[in-house]
Amino acid sequence: MKQYKKDFPFFQNKNLIYFDSAATTPKLASVIAALHDFYLNKTAPIHRGVYKQAEETTALYENTRVVVADFFHARLPSEIAFTSGTTESLNAIAFGFVQHQLQPGDEIIISELEHNANVLPWQEVAKRTGALLRYIPLLSSGDLDYDFFESMLNKKVKFVSVTHCSNSLGTLVTIDRIIKKSHEIGALVCIDAAQIAGHIPINVQENDADFFVCSAHKMYAPYGVGILYAKQELHDQFSPFRFGGGIISDISYHDASFLPFPTRLEAGTPAIPEVIALSEGVRYLKNNMSEIQKQEQSVFAYLEEQVSSVPGVIILGTAKKVHTLSFLLKQYHAHDVATYLDTHDIAVRAGTHCAHLVAKKWNYAASIRVSIGMYNTKGDVDRLIHALSKI
Ligand SMILES: Cc1ncc(COP(=O)(O)O)c(C=O)c1O
Repeated sequence: MKQYKKDFPFFQNKNLIYFDSAATTPKLASVIAALHDFYLNKTAPIHRGVYKQAEETTALYENTRVVVADFFHARLPSEIAFTSGTTESLNAIAFGFVQHQLQPGDEIIISELEHNANVLPWQEVAKRTGALLRYIPLLSSGDLDYDFFESMLNKKVKFVSVTHCSNSLGTLVTIDRIIKKSHEIGALVCIDAAQIAGHIPINVQENDADFFVCSAHKMYAPYGVGILYAKQELHDQFSPFRFGGGIISDISYHDASFLPFPTRLEAGTPAIPEVIALSEGVRYLKNNMSEIQKQEQSVFAYLEEQVSSVPGVIILGTAKKVHTLSFLLKQYHAHDVATYLDTHDIAVRAGTHCAHLVAKKWNYAASIRVSIGMYNTKGDVDRLIHALSKI
């Protein structure tokens, strides 16, 4: 088993077992080095200055677009826009694109499995446009009811937005079926990939998603950077959703025209060092992706097997999961379990994980969530099980 921990300074001289990678991940040494180098040695805006530092910085920033496009197999680097995170990417799609496409009575479909970040923008778009927001039901297995989804499709459905992997139950969603069936009726599809990017290889040309979003901070890379992929043929219909410097092609007193996508989405000064450092994280993932995937599969299978053997554990959902396991422990509140595990230097999450609709439907106040990253080992799982068995 490869020891990825050595590539994360966070783990040095610590006895901590980190099982909260679904929330955010420690940063790779190469990412931190790139950030450090920038803050120490560079200062320049992008897309503005003509001096050498400014041109070099612009080139490094634009290089991340090339690296990210290559990693997700986008056709063109210009199909990638940088935002501040998945939340902002979804807001950009909702208010820069979808809101302008809908008529009263049109339909948007999401699912009951979504993180609030993939619910709230669509509720707001529905309110503003008079569109109807509908939900793919969550089955007791923790998977979506795909047959029911197909029965929901009609020509009023204009937009579908679903997660690739649930952040609360860990369910791996069959996005290929959702994308294919949505396209058959002419609806566009957005994939919330916040929980899957960095865990399995992704090919946006193969899965044919129209929009695809994720966050750098869950990919061992910096905070404050989000990725928004949009198919090239949709770019002209994408309006800015934030207005400011760097996005106009012309301006008069009462109007302005805008530069093409992705520039029109990147108003103001972005997180320049963080975007540049993201390329290091993505490079590392690209070089190790198949091994990371195999190792996570093996550690996760061991985690599932071991946790389910702890007396009193109720695992939430039987559907196929990738890296996240949610469970209840009879007689104990999830927060008490998480606090107890913390005394053993084991970091897990307790709560509803910003997926309140799942918790409401399944009627639990809080679950214990254990989520792994590339650095977790079977030894980490053994320590968790040992602690749980002594609770
Ligand atoms: C599935 C999913 N979507 C969206 C988000 C929001 O991501 P961010 O907070 O990085 O914007 C998260 C964060 O946990 C998530 O798990």
